[in-house]
Amino acid sequence: MLSHNYTYADCLDNSIKVSWREDDILAGKNFDYSKRFLPNKLTGVDEIGCLNDNEKRLLNQIMGNGYCHLFAFVEEFIVPTIAEEAMKDAYGDEVKIRALLRFAEEELKHQELFRHSVYLFNQGFGSECGLIPGREEVARVVRGKSKLAVLLLTSVIEWFTQRHYIEHVQDEADLDGLFRDLLKFHWMEESQHAKMDTLLIGEIAEEMTMDEREAAIDEVIELGGAIDGLLSQQIALNIDALEAATGRTFTAAEKEEITASTQRAWRWTFLVSGLSHPNVVKVVSEITNEGVGKVTAVIEALSA
Ligand SMILES: [Fe+2]
Ligand SMILES: [Fe+2]
Repeated sequence: MLSHNYTYADCLDNSIKVSWREDDILAGKNFDYSKRFLPNKLTGVDEIGCLNDNEKRLLNQIMGNGYCHLFAFVEEFIVPTIAEEAMKDAYGDEVKIRALLRFAEEELKHQELFRHSVYLFNQGFGSECGLIPGREEVARVVRGKSKLAVLLLTSVIEWFTQRHYIEHVQDEADLDGLFRDLLKFHWMEESQHAKMDTLLIGEIAEEMTMDEREAAIDEVIELGGAIDGLLSQQIALNIDALEAATGRTFTAAEKEEITASTQRAWRWTFLVSGLSHPNVVKVVSEITNEGVGKVTAVIEALSA
């Protein structure tokens, strides 16, 4: 049903080959606060008329810190989901079990990496930056959906991680070096995760009816709406953080302008760049009849 040429054996080999320790990235390193952390595609600061260049750089850095937090946040539900899949047949295919257990362990390591980055930022940025709470509650809501929906959402996240680094960060030499490394090392391991998601989706979808698979797409869209709500909450906190960092108090119209531009960029970053990834579209088109149409409508609404 699902066409691909991925194998657990290849994923395991690559996972061992590219494996890194947090210290390889963070030991003795710090952010360079004279530089931006993320490209404009992932922040939208350049389109904001009420901010000068210095303020745009500060907002970009605040959004970089929020990006790390949101990653640690949205990866929370992936660990138990993948560990459960690994243990489904505890004495079965050892290569598959080992590949999936490494996948789960790598996600714990990524969360640690991103949390440490947030800690480092708090030490160096110079003023308070609020971050949304409730990651365990969000993980509980996500894991309340069907296994296929959870894996599809995981796959959306894994593929957008690829896209962010390869298409938007890799060649951007002007960005902060440590921040580029965070995305680079994350991407290196996510490459295997994205393939294993596809393998698992193929196995699970095969045992479901078309109606059940179509319903899973509705669940993914519902979860996308919940993620959009989280983004809005973090964007409001980003504006508070920018006020604290600059000493400015923004008018309602200025807040609206900052919100509109950064929301457009983060909707692309955390939803559209994954939902529209060719590999996600391919999976949805192969396991459902109506999924691509529904997802396309969501992408259009989020890009407006
Ligand atoms: Fe990750
Ligand atoms: Fe991952």
